Amino acid sequence: MKIDPWSSSTYQDYARLRDEFGIEEFSENTWRNLPHPHRLLRRGVIFGHRGFQNITESIENKKPWAILTGLMPSGKMHLGHKMVIDEVIYYQSIGADIFIAIADIEAYGTRGFSLSETKELAVQEYIKNYIALGLKPERCHIYFQSKNSYVKDLAFLLGKKINWSQMTATYGFNGSTNMTHIFSPMVQTGDILHVQLKPFGGIRPVLVPVGVDQDPHIRLSRYVAQAYRLYNVIKTKDEKIGVFIKPDDSISELLDNAEKIISALGFQRFKRITEYKALYILDAQEKDISQIDHALAITEPDFKGYGFIQPSATFHRFMTGLTGDKMSSSKPESAIFLTDTPDEARKKIMHAKTGGAISLEEQKKNGGKPDECMIYELLLYHLIEDDDQLHEIYRTCRSGERMCGHCKKETADLMCALLQDIAEKRLHAEDVMDKYLD
Ligand code: TRP
Ligand code: SF4
Repeated sequence: MKIDPWSSSTYQDYARLRDEFGIEEFSENTWRNLPHPHRLLRRGVIFGHRGFQNITESIENKKPWAILTGLMPSGKMHLGHKMVIDEVIYYQSIGADIFIAIADIEAYGTRGFSLSETKELAVQEYIKNYIALGLKPERCHIYFQSKNSYVKDLAFLLGKKINWSQMTATYGFNGSTNMTHIFSPMVQTGDILHVQLKPFGGIRPVLVPVGVDQDPHIRLSRYVAQAYRLYNVIKTKDEKIGVFIKPDDSISELLDNAEKIISALGFQRFKRITEYKALYILDAQEKDISQIDHALAITEPDFKGYGFIQPSATFHRFMTGLTGDKMSSSKPESAIFLTDTPDEARKKIMHAKTGGAISLEEQKKNGGKPDECMIYELLLYHLIEDDDQLHEIYRTCRSGERMCGHCKKETADLMCALLQDIAEKRLHAEDVMDKYLD
């Protein structure tokens, strides 16, 4: 199996995908201690993560952390695109710094959009809707890849530790792939890591909420972050916690620094073996690794390193289209756009594929199938906030008490109200746009 970020395929079996790529499960244990967890987190829409513990720790210890995500505008914004921004707005409400990349270089390299077309689409379709949905301007930065020289510099420089075999193995590039496309994963790595540079808030945990198609880029960014680290903190085969120096110069300085920093954290028993470039911390345990690692990372810029902490990521499922296959901008009947009028949306909902039985009698007898129903998906992802209410819809659908006609009508009413609210708020978005764009 291969994940291709630029194909339009959907995935059926998310659990299998997760296991195959070593993505961790985003279970109740992962989100339980977050402040008022968002419905997309509670309901399994976000089904996997890498390194989310870093984020939980930052929240619990009231340390700074950031969100970085990106969008590639390639058509009108629909409900599938709304998910990421719903997540971002939630994380903003619990204290994250927000960064949003507009992937104009990627859109140019992979979809053939010009930079100015991308800009127009991003501003008119996406950013306006982001503002209407409730994104706040405070500590929020939206930027264009092509205008951010930190991002572009990192893209060039960090490429030093990736070779062509890695790129072809990950992305399937071949002799006819154009160079801007080939380079776009490095630009995205620049997006993801640049927020840990000093002018953007410095070294800290960063969460990248994305659809699972973006996992190859996440793996690349995590690999690069690790590859540039000067210290490696691990549990050794004989169960000791060890700090190892990766470069071959400044070894004693780096060991001195490590001892100083780790003592300040309260550890006392060290064993230093300079020939191994190692410092063992005899009174540390596995649970202390991330604390030690972060404390050392922050000092790496003093030794000409970057000190990037490996970025964390969450992965959400894709929305099914109203027609039963993918929700896509290029198939208007499959998608509800945020700019649809209430009438248009109502029509699409009334025509959508449900999990209902072939006849009313049949449905009263055997019940409906909410798990295969696009209407239920709209309710679960976007329209019903209260978990008990959603459970009740699920239960009555399964038991045959709930009928599709009525259910569609209720759903259409909720959707119309939502779209109307967004449309009203969108009217004022233009006036405040400057507060968001860097
Ligand atoms: N590649 C992403 C997409 O196709 C867009 C993107 C660019 C992005 N830079 C990013 C996503 C950084 C997450 C993080 O939608
Ligand atoms: Fe879907 Fe509602 Fe019909 Fe159940 S009753 S199958 S949730 S439309």
